[in-house]
Amino acid sequence: MGVPQGAPKPDNLGVVLPNIARIRDYWLDGDHHDDTDREMAQRIELCGPHVPYLVRAQRALVRRQVGFLVEQGVTQFLDLGSGLPTGDYVHQVATAADPASRVVYVDIDPSIEADSLELIAGAENTAFVVADCRDVRGVLDHPDVSAVLDSSRPFAVLMTELLLHVPDGEDPDGLVSSYVDVLPEGSYLALSHFGEDAQVLSGFQIFEGLRFGQFPAVSLRSRERVESFFTGLDLVEPGVVPVPLWRPEPGDEVVRNPSEVRMYTGLARVGRRADTA
Ligand SMILES: C[S@@+](CC[C@H](N)C(=O)[O-])C[C@H]1O[C@@H](n2cnc3c(N)ncnc32)[C@H](O)[C@@H]1O
Repeated sequence: MGVPQGAPKPDNLGVVLPNIARIRDYWLDGDHHDDTDREMAQRIELCGPHVPYLVRAQRALVRRQVGFLVEQGVTQFLDLGSGLPTGDYVHQVATAADPASRVVYVDIDPSIEADSLELIAGAENTAFVVADCRDVRGVLDHPDVSAVLDSSRPFAVLMTELLLHVPDGEDPDGLVSSYVDVLPEGSYLALSHFGEDAQVLSGFQIFEGLRFGQFPAVSLRSRERVESFFTGLDLVEPGVVPVPLWRPEPGDEVVRNPSEVRMYTGLARVGRRADTA
């Protein structure tokens, strides 16, 4: 583990809290976590030994999806619920494929802002914005978003484990539609979501139950439910599948039963909407 880079932040009682983005950084071999995050990560691993694999698989998925999108000519990315842009993440992958790529990361968590800005320092056409992505207009009209993304051209909205934090009572379908409805034709939506995995749920419950962090209740969803977020959109092959089965590449980490991995993803193209046809 490296020296914590500005995080973690003590709460108003002076207690240092573990943080989900920094815990993920630990599992991704990053250096933006501290002992508190590592200890929490290890507790979660006791419940769900495969959770670090899921996080790595998700990160590999983002690389494949971003690579695919650049091949389709999409070089603008709005990553909602980005967490820390640590490791080989969207801006590195996209600009390696096309140096003109433009990336905005959005996360609700102000405690990861300093680290995130450090991680993207020096990257051109890349921004990190602290915002609640449920405020769709607030995100799209944010000056740092409009300074980087040209919203008149197609862009990709990435929701990698974001809807996990949006319970059905908060209308996650409406949230997805609110973004899709304003995307120019030829844009894309990429979404991935933990499925109903008892060990993943136990891991989250430990995080929440110990009351170390403010952590919203999580919603795990079935493959069919994840598919329903794409209703009316043109899903790219192979459709909504377990993450390791989405356009796997030769260097990917191998797992014994990829079809049993309860973490689902899909990527869809936004076509001409009925009202503009
Ligand atoms: C499970 S992490 C996923 C991080 C990242 N997408 C990845 O794949 O590594 C979910 C992230 O969503 C953020 N988040 C949760 N609710 C949010 C909201 N309403 N608006 C913006 N970000 C949110 C959390 O702070 C957290 O960093």
